[in-house]
Amino acid sequence: MQDDIKFHMDGAPMEDSAPIPEGLSSRLGVCPETGLCDEAKAPKEQKRPKRIVILGSTGSIGRQTLDVVQKHPDALHVVGLACGRHIADMVAQAKKFSVPSLAVGQASEIPEGVVIPDDIDLQFGPQAVVDLCTLDEADLVVNALVGEAGLAASIATLRAGKILALANKESLVVGGDLIMPHASASRLVPIDSEHGAIFQCLVGEKHSEVERLWVTASGGPFRGMTREQLQHVSPKQALAHPTWHMGAKITIDSSTLMNKGLEVIEAHHLFAMPYDRINVVVQPQSLVHSMVEFRDGSVKAHMGVTDMRIPIQYALSYPDRWSAPVQPLDFCTLGSLQFEPADTKTFRCLDLARSAGQEGGTMPCAMNAANEVAVAAFLDERCSFLQIADTVEHVMDNHCVERVTSLEQLQEVDRKARISASKYIASIG
Ligand SMILES: NC(=O)c1ccc[n+]([C@@H]2O[C@H](COP(=O)([O-])OP(=O)(O)OC[C@H]3O[C@@H](n4cnc5c(N)ncnc54)[C@H](OP(=O)(O)O)[C@@H]3O)[C@@H](O)[C@H]2O)c1
Repeated sequence: MQDDIKFHMDGAPMEDSAPIPEGLSSRLGVCPETGLCDEAKAPKEQKRPKRIVILGSTGSIGRQTLDVVQKHPDALHVVGLACGRHIADMVAQAKKFSVPSLAVGQASEIPEGVVIPDDIDLQFGPQAVVDLCTLDEADLVVNALVGEAGLAASIATLRAGKILALANKESLVVGGDLIMPHASASRLVPIDSEHGAIFQCLVGEKHSEVERLWVTASGGPFRGMTREQLQHVSPKQALAHPTWHMGAKITIDSSTLMNKGLEVIEAHHLFAMPYDRINVVVQPQSLVHSMVEFRDGSVKAHMGVTDMRIPIQYALSYPDRWSAPVQPLDFCTLGSLQFEPADTKTFRCLDLARSAGQEGGTMPCAMNAANEVAVAAFLDERCSFLQIADTVEHVMDNHCVERVTSLEQLQEVDRKARISASKYIASIG
């Protein structure tokens, strides 16, 4: 691996101990001097429903987003949906929510028995998914695609001047250097529960007074296990997450702690925070969703039940809050909260991802591609649980870092890293 290269939002190199840049507060709509939210100063407008596009509507986040829409039909109106292969499910959603524009990213034909009504436009191909982000009638795009496939959509959404409600963390991991320059003035609102938590803790705060971010982790289903015990764990065991019900890829990432590594990189980009001021702590109950430490020693923590509809809804309602779609936290029955350090010796993916982030440039893109290939291989039982980290390390060791210049460059790095990871897995299998 090459020497440390790290770029800030504008592509300029950034020091680990650099002060937090102005972008942190301006992205939150907060005046760096007064700490007041812009919204408080703005004249009140008549509100019409936000018109939203949901990419990945058939997945875990996509379906929960539609739950939130159902709960707030006067505030949200869905104008576009995209999926990978589950066309019948998406068409059923479109009929239920009267959605006129659909895109299918992976499949290439309509399955037998599925009838597309005349008033629904359905297009195929990755470009059709990206085109939904630029629909004139859309105000906000929920990007709940999985993996690097979400990057082009994130960039297109922000370039089109729409609000990006981002679940697809891989977008920022791979292309944070390309995305963040377009992400000012509250146009990028995180859905990931940890980043949604930090985002909320920072509202009204002065960026110069933030000392450190604490990103919490559940520890996953294998917390406390040794490398010997992990040698033969199965995909089924890894998919049994103790606190969250999520899609397969993120659930495996949670079991390896790669998910936390991706989230450290995501936090670095979103909050313009140097890596040495982003800590990870295991909080097995997943009730503290993350924390912000300030320079006077005060710590703000965001708490809530483990239900993704809360951060999804906040990303859609921001800067307002709407009535909760879930039961509130009951502190009388909560019991105790545990905190412990992450076991990075056993779960090597967290440190691998952090070091990819610190290396910067195209390294996180190569790291992410290797992980996507290795997770798919583990789910297909073509590699073992511990070989996921080995694959990521192999690809990182063989990647020559370049400064990020374009989407096309990242797509080429991603393609080559996938080949390298596949070859490595074939060689150890
Ligand atoms: N689930 C959670 O609780 C959670 C929490 C925090 C962050 N996230 C992040 O949110 C993202 C989505 O996670 P998830 O758990 O919702 O995943 P998921 O359940 O696997 O759903 C993924 C969605 O993306 C669609 N899709 C996949 N590849 C596509 C492509 N090339 N073109 C168009 N659509 C495509 C899938 O369509 P098909 O169904 O048709 O295949 C599905 O609708 C991930 O980045 C994850 O890390 C998830």
